[in-house]
Amino acid sequence: MRITLIGGTGDIGEGLALRLGRETDHELVIGSRDPEKARRHAEDYRERIDKRGGKAAVEGAANPAAAEGADLVVLSVPPEFLVDTIGTVTEALSEETIVVTPAVQMRRDEDGFHYEKPDASDSVTAVAAEAVPDDVPVVGAFHNLPAKRLASLDAELGIDTAIVADDETAGETVAAVAEELEGVRAVRAGGLSNAAEIESITPLLINLATNNSGLHNLGVRFS
Ligand SMILES: NC(=O)c1ccc[n+]([C@@H]2O[C@H](COP(=O)([O-])OP(=O)(O)OC[C@H]3O[C@@H](n4cnc5c(N)ncnc54)[C@H](OP(=O)(O)O)[C@@H]3O)[C@@H](O)[C@H]2O)c1
Repeated sequence: MRITLIGGTGDIGEGLALRLGRETDHELVIGSRDPEKARRHAEDYRERIDKRGGKAAVEGAANPAAAEGADLVVLSVPPEFLVDTIGTVTEALSEETIVVTPAVQMRRDEDGFHYEKPDASDSVTAVAAEAVPDDVPVVGAFHNLPAKRLASLDAELGIDTAIVADDETAGETVAAVAEELEGVRAVRAGGLSNAAEIESITPLLINLATNNSGLHNLGVRFS
């Protein structure tokens, strides 16, 4: 499978690229607004995976080129740039492409982080679904994965990622990819209208890490 990480130069992109690169045979493409930056990051990820005995296929390209021919396009950009970023890759999307969004909108005040519902919809995942062409399936996933723990390749995970999708086949495909990551279990949380419940867990994880010594880069395991 060809998996493109749009904004794959950032934190969650790095974590997913390193884990996918080390633990799966998928072809990875790192997208950026700046193709040189994308190539630099792809090379860095390849070297870090190689050092641990992996052999990953990781390329870098400008976001629109990176999305061409992808089976999975992960939108790893901050929520405020999501819709504009989708606009830059729309021509590369078709009913054969699954778009994955991990994006969460939060605000911060003196007490910590708070979930923030987007103005336009119930969740950022729903915003993404509205922004892509009608025939392109959208899956919400990876919202609660801690980027820094993923990027630390020696760290054990033992965490879940909750998946929401209206298209059952697309949801199963993304769940299968997530479960290829060692220590990650994919759990199904229903349709896209349930995305806000998953997104709202992320600020809780950050607040728990902030207020409890020894708890860093938290994920969640449902049991
Ligand atoms: N960090 C986490 O632990 C984590 C975990 C789960 C989910 N998430 C979600 O994943 C998404 C990305 O998070 P992140 O922490 O990886 O973000 P980030 O590191 O701040 O940014 C990711 C990438 O977004 C691109 N970007 C920045 N400004 C942009 C703009 N104006 N237009 C288009 N692209 C822009 C940049 O790529 P280029 O400059 O190369 O284009 C950047 O490397 C967020 O929605 C977040 O809620 C994050």
